[in-house]
Amino acid sequence: MAAAAVCAWLVNAPSGLRGQGANPVVLQIKAGEATLHVSPTLYGLMTEEINFSYEGGLYGELVRNRSFKEDPKEAVHWQLVQPAGASGSMALDPSQPFNAAIPISLKLTVSQGAVGVANEGFWGIPVRPQTRYRASFYAKAAPGFSGPLTIALTSNDGATIHATAQVKSIGGDWKKYEATLTTKDVKPSSENRLAISAARPGTVWLSMVSLFPPTYANRPNGNRPDIMQLLADMHPAFLRFPGGNYLEGNTIETRFDWKKTIGDISQRPGHMDDGWRYWSSDGMGLLEFLEWCEDLHMQPLLAVYAGYSMRQVRVAPGNDLAPYVNEALDEIEYVMGDANTTWGARRAKDGHPKPFPLTYVEVGNEDNFDRQAGSYDGRFAQFFDAIKAKYPQIQVIATTRVTGRTPDFVDEHYYRNSEDEMASHAHDYDTRPRGAGPKVMCGEWATRVGRPTPNMSGALGDAAWMTGMERNSDLVILSSYAPLFVNVNPGAMQWPTDLIGYNTMASYGSPGYYAQQMFSSHHGDLILPTTDQGVPMKDWQPPAGRRGADGTQPPPRPVQQVPTLFYSATRDSKTGTIYLKIVNRLSTPQPVKVEISGLASVESKGQSVVMAASPDDTNSIAEPTKVIPVSASVDGLGANFTRTFPPYSISVLEMKAK
Ligand code: AHR
Repeated sequence: MAAAAVCAWLVNAPSGLRGQGANPVVLQIKAGEATLHVSPTLYGLMTEEINFSYEGGLYGELVRNRSFKEDPKEAVHWQLVQPAGASGSMALDPSQPFNAAIPISLKLTVSQGAVGVANEGFWGIPVRPQTRYRASFYAKAAPGFSGPLTIALTSNDGATIHATAQVKSIGGDWKKYEATLTTKDVKPSSENRLAISAARPGTVWLSMVSLFPPTYANRPNGNRPDIMQLLADMHPAFLRFPGGNYLEGNTIETRFDWKKTIGDISQRPGHMDDGWRYWSSDGMGLLEFLEWCEDLHMQPLLAVYAGYSMRQVRVAPGNDLAPYVNEALDEIEYVMGDANTTWGARRAKDGHPKPFPLTYVEVGNEDNFDRQAGSYDGRFAQFFDAIKAKYPQIQVIATTRVTGRTPDFVDEHYYRNSEDEMASHAHDYDTRPRGAGPKVMCGEWATRVGRPTPNMSGALGDAAWMTGMERNSDLVILSSYAPLFVNVNPGAMQWPTDLIGYNTMASYGSPGYYAQQMFSSHHGDLILPTTDQGVPMKDWQPPAGRRGADGTQPPPRPVQQVPTLFYSATRDSKTGTIYLKIVNRLSTPQPVKVEISGLASVESKGQSVVMAASPDDTNSIAEPTKVIPVSASVDGLGANFTRTFPPYSISVLEMKAK
């Protein structure tokens, strides 16, 4: 059943059918008894370099292996362009280092004819009509060669030149050369390459070859506009960065070493993202993360390296850990210090004099995986004390439970492998004791159904889970799905079920993406107490536990009863509008009798937003909007009404009330 078909069911259903076929669920909304508030920061984003999130993803750079460091032995993603009759060679040349950060370069020797080197990009280079590309490279000529060099965007076979420019003369010392490549009326395509060539004999060395298309808000070194727009449409409150496993690295050396990610991109060494097994240019560095926040009006939620890397490498608290604590304090100063501070001044020098606001700092990532008992307790305490001493206003987030200090937040991660499993946990926070302890950040969560991106079943699990977080957002203050991005080209994905997919030319939001957009765009500031009667339950057999070390299979877990209908009701205290969210996981329409008390009146006319589709339905590059929410005006609402919700649907009802 396609999304449109389900919606047609809703519109065309004979009125006699509404409310029949199943017993109505009764929802009592006590609108006059709201005391708790919806967290204004509930809906945020989590990001890291995974699935080619930035490289070949959000970060606009189109040249892959621009500094030739990706592989020490060969110039991967580059090829020699040597037409018939021409001859020459290309090779990595450590004897001609570009600089201390990039101690290598690419040597191009032309012996005869026109010879060049070409970059294949990240699964091709997107070429679009009437588009300006900013090309740049560093070059140094051997004695006897002075250019010119031609830089061109061409088809993969070189037969079609989409745009070209010439650098007339090349000097004998490293220097940056820039050119604008402007396409004419070309057909959009990704089967292209960027070539730099010379038609005279001689030798030239190249480094930091870069090509940028137009970027979001025209930022230099900026981001891909289509993906940024998808994010902007989610209205996220914060961005948790830079990880995730990407923050930690497998070893201390491969952590996100923020000081190596700032300043001129030609001075950034880049590093191996060994957790996810590919090279990061670090073009998306600390300042770029912050500017991304600025562009989308999100608060930064900065995760600092906490002295633990994933191969069970850890730094002992005390003197050994002190340099890493100082590194974190410097990082915080880079973000929020004014230009009179050492690192605030460095940020100003890097192009952003204005400090960024910073409320949340997370110490590490998933330190529950640190198998040395008590290690995180000691490490967390040292970071916590140092951060609070200098910045008492900062809310410090622990990545797992600690003793000894009371963090402001604990970050909880929930990846669930089925819709039923996620739904079975959607009421967990209802009974979580409230008290003086830490608040909750649900910093990674997802229903892992659908690959590369969630299908409608995944979205139903996600929506059920979100009703639980929203209903309890006096406790759950921050939440973010993970992973956010996946490049859907072959070989790019390390982690299936990611919110937003893209290839070289296009991007799309999954049904899970649209479910989040529906939630984050439609809520009030007051949580309305709600009770239910008659929610149909469904049997769910939880999967078997893991085999023991001796290979024995544990006994089957008991079958659970899981609700099929989920809800959350909030109200805007200024406008009076009530937002009622209903998730119907059944394959049949579900009538719901809504009884709203405590208000003078609820108007009969309102708005609905409904996303409905079969569980396996999904979006993709080919069908980016197969499953999307549909908005409509509705009638028949009020303080007491019955409305039938379509099979497999996520709905928001907006009701005007006084
Ligand atoms: O989201 C993918 C990974 O899952 C994150 O890097 C890590 O924090 C978690 O284990």
